[in-house]
Amino acid sequence: MTQVGKAIPHESAAGHVSGEALYTDDLLARFAAPLHAWPVLSPHAHARVVSIDAGAAEALPDVVKVLTASDVPGENEVGPARHDEPLFPDEVQFHNQAVAWVLAESVEAARAGAAAVAVDYEPLPAIVTMDQALAAQSFLTDPLTISSGEPAEALAAAPHSFSGELRLGGQEHFYLETQATIAAWDEAGEVFIHSSTQHPSETQEVVARVLGVPLRMVTCQSLRMGGAFGGKETQANPYAAVAAVGAHATARPVRVRLDRQLDMALTGKRHPFWARYRVGHDDEGRILALDLELYSDGGWSLDLSTPIMYRALFHCDNCYRIPNLRVVGRVLRTHKTSQTAFRGFGGPQGMVVIEDILDRVARAVARPGHEVRALNFYREGDRTHYGQLVRDAGRIERIWTSLRARADFGRRLAEVEAHNHANEHEKRGLAITPVRFGISFTASFFNQAGALVLVYRDGSIQVNHGGTEMGQGLHTKMLQIAADGLGVPLEAVRLMPTRTDKVPNTSATAASSGSDLNGAAVERACTQIRERLAGVAAAALGVAPGDVEFSEGRVRPFWQAEDPEAGLSFAELAGRAYIQRVPLFATGYYRTPKIHFDEQTGRGKPFHYFAYGAAITEVEVDGFTGQFSIRRVDILHDVGDSISPKVDIGQIEGGFIQGLGWLTSEELVWADDGRLATRGASTYKLPTLGECPEQFNIELLPSASEPSVVKGSKAVGEPPLMLAISAREALRAAVAAFAEPGVDAVELACPSTPEAVYWAIDRARARAVGRSAAE
Ligand code: MTE
Ligand code: MOS
Repeated sequence: MTQVGKAIPHESAAGHVSGEALYTDDLLARFAAPLHAWPVLSPHAHARVVSIDAGAAEALPDVVKVLTASDVPGENEVGPARHDEPLFPDEVQFHNQAVAWVLAESVEAARAGAAAVAVDYEPLPAIVTMDQALAAQSFLTDPLTISSGEPAEALAAAPHSFSGELRLGGQEHFYLETQATIAAWDEAGEVFIHSSTQHPSETQEVVARVLGVPLRMVTCQSLRMGGAFGGKETQANPYAAVAAVGAHATARPVRVRLDRQLDMALTGKRHPFWARYRVGHDDEGRILALDLELYSDGGWSLDLSTPIMYRALFHCDNCYRIPNLRVVGRVLRTHKTSQTAFRGFGGPQGMVVIEDILDRVARAVARPGHEVRALNFYREGDRTHYGQLVRDAGRIERIWTSLRARADFGRRLAEVEAHNHANEHEKRGLAITPVRFGISFTASFFNQAGALVLVYRDGSIQVNHGGTEMGQGLHTKMLQIAADGLGVPLEAVRLMPTRTDKVPNTSATAASSGSDLNGAAVERACTQIRERLAGVAAAALGVAPGDVEFSEGRVRPFWQAEDPEAGLSFAELAGRAYIQRVPLFATGYYRTPKIHFDEQTGRGKPFHYFAYGAAITEVEVDGFTGQFSIRRVDILHDVGDSISPKVDIGQIEGGFIQGLGWLTSEELVWADDGRLATRGASTYKLPTLGECPEQFNIELLPSASEPSVVKGSKAVGEPPLMLAISAREALRAAVAAFAEPGVDAVELACPSTPEAVYWAIDRARARAVGRSAAE
């Protein structure tokens, strides 16, 4: 029996529900006399810091030190890509930015200390909205462009064309575990950082930078995260840096843990987007040309905004062949939190735009949306606008047809229509949308991973790899791969916390590629050890090494593989190998082959492969209030050969619901002065059990092996989020039904909250009436 492919629970599932699984901040009890940190927050979105007077604060009982720029021994700079993020700023760039940090014996004392720090500011004008930023030409990047075909000529020649725009809201990660870090001196006088980070190597680098020491002096561990969703890819770094500077200044352990309000006020979010376009199509609804302009709100510093914008550019075609396409993206700079990675990484924003456009095209040619979508699908042999061959394009059609049959789409569409004719104030909508998501980091050098596998003399095993666990089940999959790699049961293998002193120079666990990259590295490490052990076993059993089989903790000639007594136990073999001086540990390394992208020409093969899926969602909308419910969701998703089916189904469920939250309920509101008005679950509406579909059917696409990935599997972390676009399209269908006999376009704001749906119905009715009056 192999472990790969088995539907086993997440390796920490019991610990998650019993509370026994530890997170970074739970480790605090192990440190003697730690100091607690609290930030001094700017009341302005943009201001010069004239002076900071810490005297009164430092005189308070239990306050130990107020950290400012003068306490930074190295560089006062924590920017991950561009170095544009001072840790202690002399010019405030967003409301509630920390200008100093207070260290005290308790959180309460630190908080009281922060209130007592006197800061003199000179307020400056702030840019808060994207419109203000565009008017002021406030940008973080140059325009990024990808163009194929002859978009201008094709648009002019198209039989039909129209223009539009769409604004998309951001999203708060709302990981259950807020940002947390502990910094302490180790026994060598060097720094050990516990951090809830998706990118321990970068956290290590940023800490080394602020301390002004080489990387070898800093070790960073990420035990496990209580959710990250991209929000800890770079955003954990500044807090690790504060803790490290604090530990340096006081020679004591320092803990930084944000509470929910601080976390929401200080950390970056999904980028809000603003799209403007002109599209040309034929009589049947075939898209002939698209000229698309995308702006994102990057906030105050660059962070990952460039690759996020690129991913939006790469996904503005979703599953559709657009022969003439020009897309230009540019990141706006505003005085807000620095927006960052969030599940999908710009892909969702690009895809919502094209799905919005497709429904408009369908209504313009008076055909059902699902027909017009299928008409535009990529076919085998097509290339994307950036020149990559759409390998497996036939899979889109296969998933589409199969899902429609499974979910009884045709019959239910007729039922929905009948329901809508019979009900004036309550309308239903049914929609199907596809997903095609590129797998690989678009910065090619990130596509590498390492592992270190240790076998002890008793045959028990430790696996280290460069990926981090955030609930997505990466460690579970790595356990399964390692167990099969050495032919032992799962219980023989222990997955170690991710540490920079075990595997160096790792990439962030992101871009859904954690299991592809680290899985291949773990497998390669295991293969080396198994080959060495096969030699030892062959000599002991008197057979050829190639005939030795490792399974279920025993090592036997393959013709005795069913015999529980035959051969040696894995433990006996490990013991023999040790005596014979055969090394029992190995490193594994993997880099994704043949990927590249040239930003100058906008051409390349940025993705190793694509992950596919489709979803059908049915909604019901109340015309008086705009309130809606999700009646049923059907998903068919392609994970290749699943390494861990339970984990994968969980990722699809969670991804869909998180996408649903982004598109239908979570609304970030910034006040005119740049203050984030939605700073807790009381004002920021997260999806709850009440928003979950009454029927939620998820299936994995069968016979979908991906030969170029470890164990034939495919990445699953992010792609399912975009399946939730089907819910937004179902809402638009329901809105249109309020405007019978027809409406030529459904303008629905995003997020499509009940309030937005209400106004969309209002607009649709006005539009339908206007049309019939003109007829
Ligand atoms: N699932 C859980 N439970 N928690 C998370 O934080 N993050 C998502 C996804 N699924 C996340 C999650 C994001 S943004 C990514 S990129 C992937 O997991 C990262 O893990 P992987 O590369 O191992 O799939
Ligand atoms: Mo995920 S947004 O790539 O961390």
